[in-house]
Amino acid sequence: MQFNAIIEPFRVKTVEPIRHTTREQRLAAIRRAGYNPFLLKAEDVLIDLLTDSGTGAMSSRQWAGMMLGDESYAGARSFYKFEAAVKKITGFKHVMPTHQGRAAERILFGSALKPGDIVPNNTHFDTTRANVEYRGAIGLDIPIPEAHQPRVYHPFKGNVDLEKLERALAENPGKIPMVMVTVTNNSGGGQPVSMANIRAVSEIAHSHGAPFFIDACRFAENSWFIKMREEGYADKSPMEIAQEMFSYADGATMSAKKDGLANIGGFLAMNDDELAMKCKNMEILGEGFPTYGGLAGYDLEAIAVGLEEALDPDYLRYRIRSIEYLGERMKEDGIPFIEPTGGHAVYIDARAMLPHIPWNEYPGWALSLALYIEGGIRSAEIGTVMFGRQPDGSEKPADMDLVRMAFPRRMYTQSHVDYLAEVLGYIREISPRIRGVRMVEEPPVLRHFTARFEPAHGEILAEA
Ligand code: F0G
Repeated sequence: MQFNAIIEPFRVKTVEPIRHTTREQRLAAIRRAGYNPFLLKAEDVLIDLLTDSGTGAMSSRQWAGMMLGDESYAGARSFYKFEAAVKKITGFKHVMPTHQGRAAERILFGSALKPGDIVPNNTHFDTTRANVEYRGAIGLDIPIPEAHQPRVYHPFKGNVDLEKLERALAENPGKIPMVMVTVTNNSGGGQPVSMANIRAVSEIAHSHGAPFFIDACRFAENSWFIKMREEGYADKSPMEIAQEMFSYADGATMSAKKDGLANIGGFLAMNDDELAMKCKNMEILGEGFPTYGGLAGYDLEAIAVGLEEALDPDYLRYRIRSIEYLGERMKEDGIPFIEPTGGHAVYIDARAMLPHIPWNEYPGWALSLALYIEGGIRSAEIGTVMFGRQPDGSEKPADMDLVRMAFPRRMYTQSHVDYLAEVLGYIREISPRIRGVRMVEEPPVLRHFTARFEPAHGEILAEA
């Protein structure tokens, strides 16, 4: 008998209370925060879906592992455990721990890029793009066209447009020092990349002499999608699938705050000896000696265990299914979102849901405020506030105005998901009353983190 209820494949040993607040308290809190969810105190949030990064719950095995942490400056036992775990999955020759994913990016691009270079990727995550551009290089996003069509179903919407990749490489000889693929494609809706696409990207990159790197933050979730959706992989384990994915690549950057199931950490890994030497020198400059790379020994232990646990089929089934279930509930309620649901998040299409709010009153931002004020839910705008400011100072609408609800790993239960579905259904009902915002304070870079806003028309929610 196949039962349908989604159950968490773990039981709870330690609990952390979350706090109910009244609507009045939340209105006061968001006002104090300049109508910016990033500036809220976390304790004023009931369900925090701001990010899936570093926010997950560790297992008893991870906590036990932490007690074994070897804090030696060089050559710690914990490093060798960490290195073995990364090598088992990726097969890469050189493994450098870093304090998080963006440190791996900074070291890699600092060692391999020069001004004017181009890095193709399905879609750069914002820190990845920022680190590419910091080197004077260009981040070229070339996902398949379906990536920009929220309601078109495609099993692997994270795929790279292979023709565009081929063209970029042919037209820019000597200017593309590496090709990257982000699994899953976070900025494109948490959508997976197929094994066939990864293999093809690898072949095309190599035929032009360019190494191929994977931004591997959510490699385990990507492996599960391949198992579920790609022909020939149903009987393979997530570990075997991950191993095959990495076998096509020459290196990877990783934030262990995602599929490392840890609260901090990351790594840079690669096969090339010469590049690894350069990277290790840069690592010493900024992160620390290459056997700890900005982490404590106990962090390395937690990640070594976490990387394996992230590939557990029971865990991945529960995680992906739970998010898919929320999508089903949203669909019943007529809430537009990027379909299919991604691995770590649901991305609501705020522009479609709030067509009465003009782009320059930031529909995504307004929707995330309504989610907080009505339900105590914190989410993140991925839209015109995040991407609208242009290098020349002008502003234009982002490709899409989305609201991302990202799920911390192993933290919330199915009843939390039911609560979310209920709140979202209510938000859908009152959506014609949601009003836009205007920005009253804007920092020069990465403005979404610290900008302050005011309702553009009295209140976020107009009177009924
Ligand atoms: N690459 C991808 C695809 C990411 O999603 C992130 C982080 C990074 C790199 C950088 O890793 O934070 O450890 O330095 N994403 C988080 C998020 C912050 O909320 O999506 P980091």
